Amino acid sequence: MSRVYVFDHPLIQHKLTFIRDKNTGTKEFRELVDEVATLMAYEITRDMPLQETEIETPVTTCKSKVLAGKKIGLIPILRAGLGMVDGVLNLIPAAKVGHIGLYRDPETLKPVEYYAKLPTDIEERELIVIDPMLATGGSASVAITALKKRGAKNMKLMCLIAAPEGIKVVQEDHPDVDIFVAAVDEQLNDHGYIVPGLGDAGDRLYGTK
Ligand code: PRP
Ligand code: URA
Repeated sequence: MSRVYVFDHPLIQHKLTFIRDKNTGTKEFRELVDEVATLMAYEITRDMPLQETEIETPVTTCKSKVLAGKKIGLIPILRAGLGMVDGVLNLIPAAKVGHIGLYRDPETLKPVEYYAKLPTDIEERELIVIDPMLATGGSASVAITALKKRGAKNMKLMCLIAAPEGIKVVQEDHPDVDIFVAAVDEQLNDHGYIVPGLGDAGDRLYGTK
């Protein structure tokens, strides 16, 4: 069974409150999502392997640690996942970025794939699949399946807000993929929206609708 990590850092929780607030406009919403993505990236990279190197300080030589150079790939689920990419790249600037395009059919709520462009070596990379909302879990689960079919072996899922229903689906479909979120909300409503949630993440990021 995969694990769920809820990032309860005060800065993340503070910013998430304003992200949720319907009176927060597009510009501020986008900036806050970007900032929270950076803070989440800091937490999500905690287990990155280090290796020892020798350096010279102005005083002496010493052994010190650097990242072991594990290859990272970021996979935002279009469109809303894009809003978190730059925030993560702030901390992992050398990561390759692949894109998966999915939309939820408004009638069936089932995700439909319309685009995929991925790093050629995804099987060697540690992938972070990025989407602000984990609602029914359909989009994330289909995206992870699509990545596995193309060779991906090692993945984490990073979301701002998850519904318990979505967590259950991803855990059942992908017990090997840990889930990292800023909040787990109460439930979904009849339209598949997370309650209390933040509304439609894509529309709020891009000012559509
Ligand atoms: C939203 C969101 C997720 C999906 C979550 O995208 O960004 O991808 O819904 O819902 P689910 O867990 O029930 O699948 P949407 O389909 O609205 O597309 P968009 O990002 O293009 O706005
Ligand atoms: N997608 C969103 O953007 N918001 C939700 O609450 C559910 C799915």
